[in-house]
Amino acid sequence: MTSKYGPQAERWTDDAYADAASYLAHRAELIVGLGPRLEPGDTVLDLACGDGGLADHLPGLRYLGVDASAEMVTAARRRGREVALGDLNEYEPAEHVAATTCFRAIYYARNRAAFFAHVAAYTDRKLVFDLNPRQYPLAAVRADLGHAGFDELEVRPFFAPQRVSLPRPALAALHVLERGGPFARLLLRYRFSLLCAAFRGGRNS
Ligand SMILES: C[S@@+](CC[C@H](N)C(=O)[O-])C[C@H]1O[C@@H](n2cnc3c(N)ncnc32)[C@H](O)[C@@H]1O
Repeated sequence: MTSKYGPQAERWTDDAYADAASYLAHRAELIVGLGPRLEPGDTVLDLACGDGGLADHLPGLRYLGVDASAEMVTAARRRGREVALGDLNEYEPAEHVAATTCFRAIYYARNRAAFFAHVAAYTDRKLVFDLNPRQYPLAAVRADLGHAGFDELEVRPFFAPQRVSLPRPALAALHVLERGGPFARLLLRYRFSLLCAAFRGGRNS
């Protein structure tokens, strides 16, 4: 399952994203701010982290990565990242983390409900992940999160193109559209993903 990523590992971030800096910076901004806010010094565990390119955009936070591809782990360590070789379905950090993230990889959860429950056991504040709403109905995902104890869910469109580098004003306009409305709903019917932050209402709000 991870073998296809081996040959891509050394250049993952540069090749997978046309404008990696903008894309990952926007993802990082939402990791910090969507749902309960992360504070300096908090630990983020990034499941299926690839080469750990996201870490460059989370200053002030401690970044730990996990990936099941040995080549990705080697590439991430070469970038100076603290990364473990492991399967997101089973990996457990040595200590609880403030946030767990999982990007472009939620489909590697063998059993989604069990995966959420596993993550909930070591995650204190929130789980942040992206989701293709054309592939996964949000209501079903919300129900699985609720069973795992994540009874609150903040969701917003994530309109960051992966394969195209847009001029700044166009990117800024897309980010404004993420606030919702009919055009955002229309776009999501054909393209882009949702960003989800799941957390426990009573303890975080
Ligand atoms: C599409 S890439 C996403 C990488 C990174 N999260 C990003 O957004 O750029 C998917 C990653 O998931 C990893 N992966 C696949 N199955 C996995 C599993 N069961 N446990 C951990 N990582 C896995 C792959 O090795 C690959 O690095």
